[in-house]
Amino acid sequence: MGESVLTAGFAPADGALACEGVPLETIARDVGTPVFIYSAGAIRDAYTRLDRALAPVPHRLHYSVKANANVAVLALLRSLGAGVDIVSGGELYRATLAGLTGADIVFSGVGKTERELREALAAGILLFNVESEGELRLLDRVAGDIRVTAPVALRVNPEVSVDTPHHYTRTGERGDKFGVPYPDALAVAQLALTLPHTRLLGLDMHIGSQVSSVEPYRDGMLRLLELADDLRAAGAQDLRYLDIGGGLGVTYDTEDPIDLDEYAATVLPHAAASGLKLLVEPGRYLVGNAGVLLTRVLYRKEGGGREFVITDAGMNDLLRPSHYNAYHRIDAVRPRGGRTQADIVGPVCESGDFFALAREIDDVRPGDLLAIRSAGAYGFAMSSNYNARPRAAEVLVDGERFAEITAREQYEDLVRHETAHPTWRNA
Ligand SMILES: Cc1ncc(COP(=O)(O)O)c(C=O)c1O
Repeated sequence: MGESVLTAGFAPADGALACEGVPLETIARDVGTPVFIYSAGAIRDAYTRLDRALAPVPHRLHYSVKANANVAVLALLRSLGAGVDIVSGGELYRATLAGLTGADIVFSGVGKTERELREALAAGILLFNVESEGELRLLDRVAGDIRVTAPVALRVNPEVSVDTPHHYTRTGERGDKFGVPYPDALAVAQLALTLPHTRLLGLDMHIGSQVSSVEPYRDGMLRLLELADDLRAAGAQDLRYLDIGGGLGVTYDTEDPIDLDEYAATVLPHAAASGLKLLVEPGRYLVGNAGVLLTRVLYRKEGGGREFVITDAGMNDLLRPSHYNAYHRIDAVRPRGGRTQADIVGPVCESGDFFALAREIDDVRPGDLLAIRSAGAYGFAMSSNYNARPRAAEVLVDGERFAEITAREQYEDLVRHETAHPTWRNA
C-alpha cells in the first residue's frame, strides 16, 4: 500500500514519468521549471479513502488549508464535500474565493488577531477553535460589539505523548504552545459557558503532523471525552462537535502511512459513544503524495570527495529537507539506466540548501528533469522569495488535461510592494 500511495497519480509511460495522462516533460516544456504538479485523481482518491473510513459516524473532513492553499486545490476539495480548517485571515480569504462558506470553516491558530476574529465572525464560520483564555475573552468582546454569538470549540492540549519524525511537528505534548493545557481546560470551557457572547459547541485537539500510530489519537480523544463528561455534568447543553485534528502520516520513503483501518477502529467507537459529530482536519494526508516538484538539472560537479547535482529548484521552493531534515524520494523523469550517489542541491546561497545528501539516484546530466516526490503538502505553501527567487508555478493535472493554477512569479512581483524612493514621515 505504501508504494502505490506514495506514487499516486504519477507513473512511467513510454520511458518517462507522467502525471495521470500528461507527461511531465510536456509540462516542463510549456510551463518551465521549477514547477509543482498535483494530480487531481490522487487528491480525490485520498479524500474518498478517508471519508469512507469515517463513514460509520456523522463526520466531516475539514481540509487543513495550510498544507496546500492553492485556490484550485481548495475548489477541488470543496467539490468533493470537504470543509476547511484555516489558521489566518488570509486562509479565510482563499477559502472564500474557492467557494467555501461560513458553515464549511473551522478556525484554528494560537494567535488569532482581533481583525481575524471580526472577519471570521462576519463570515459566520462554524467554529472558532479557541486556544487560550485571552482569545476567548477577546472573541466574546468582538462578538458582543457586532451583536452575534461566537461558536466555540475549545482547543485542548491533551498532553499525550506523540511520536513524529521531527519535534517541530508535535503539538499535543505537555509544554507545546498550542491549545489550552489539559489541567486548565475545564475552567476555560466553563468560562465559555458563562460569557454572554460565546457558545461552547465542541472540543478540539490537534496532536501533531506526520503521525503514523493511532495511540496518541486514542489517548487524546479519551481526555477530550472525559472533559466533555465533566462539562455536561457542569451544565453544558450544547456540545455537538468533537474535532480530533489532522496529522495523519503518509509515506515519503519506507515509513508506514497511518493504517486507516486501525485509525477508524480506534476513533469510531469513541466518536459514536460520544454522540458528537466527528470533525477531522487532514492536510498532508489529502495532498502530500499527490504532488511532485519538477526541477531541471543545471550542473554536476565534484568537490571534496562529494558529487553534486545542482538543480534549478532550491530550498526557497521546498523547505522541508532543510527545515525538518525531511526525506523526499527523487527520480529522473526519463531515467538513463545508470545510478550515481550525489548530493542534490539547489542554487540558494546556503549550505542548508539541499534536497538529499549522499543519495543514490538515477544518473542524470545537465538538462535532465528530476521529480522530487511527495511535495504536494507544505511545499509551495512554505516557499519564499529568498535570494530574490521568483516562486515556482503550480499545475493541476486531471486525466489528459492540465492547467496552470499559479503562474510563475516574475521579477516585478518581487518588488511589487517596495519602493526605492520612500516617502518619509516625521516622528
Ligand atoms: C490545527 C491544525 N490542524 C490540522 C493540521 C494539518 O496537519 P496535517 O497536514 O499533518 O494533517 C495542522 C498542521 O499542523 C494544524 O496546525
